[in-house]
Amino acid sequence: MTKTVTALMATCALLAAAAGVHNVLYAQAASTSGGVYTDAQAQRGAALYKEQCAACHGEDLKGNDIIPGLAGQGFTGNWQGKSLGDLYDKIQMTMPALNPGSLTPEQTADLIAHILSTSKYPAGTTDLAAKAEALQQIKIDAAKN
Ligand code: HEC
Repeated sequence: MTKTVTALMATCALLAAAAGVHNVLYAQAASTSGGVYTDAQAQRGAALYKEQCAACHGEDLKGNDIIPGLAGQGFTGNWQGKSLGDLYDKIQMTMPALNPGSLTPEQTADLIAHILSTSKYPAGTTDLAAKAEALQQIKIDAAKN
């Protein structure tokens, strides 16, 4: 009995500590300047971008007269101050334009990593989460290029 109680208390302490660490991580990574994706994830996203997005948005993500760019000023002009959750929903629900809803959550997160990498936001050590709710916490800063 005492053992069980001790074990339970230890578990609670661990959970509380984990929650604390979690909050700190979120606080540090609350914007796209905080290293919110990994290089490996951006590379997966780049390969997928070539297949599914480049035909319209351009190899260099610059877009054209009709199709918006996904890099640099052309991108942040529309997205700065919004969250990665908004961007996630936009891509997940409406892109690729001729086949919306066809991307998996992981593919959408990988594509966002590629978009962030192209605009020179720094990479970090943890993959961007493939969940809109988690991404709502991350604000989009001014692009670095
Ligand atoms: C058939 C052409 C086409 C393809 C393929 C396509 N898009 Fe788009 N995309 C558009 C058009 C047109 C718009 C502008 C209209 C709109 O926002 O829906 C757009 C808008 C966007 C936007 C919003 C940009 C802004 O600043 O408002 C994002 C983000 C985006 N696309 C991402 C992607 C990604 C990622 C892919 C690949 C999975 C992709 N698109 C594939 C045509 C395309």
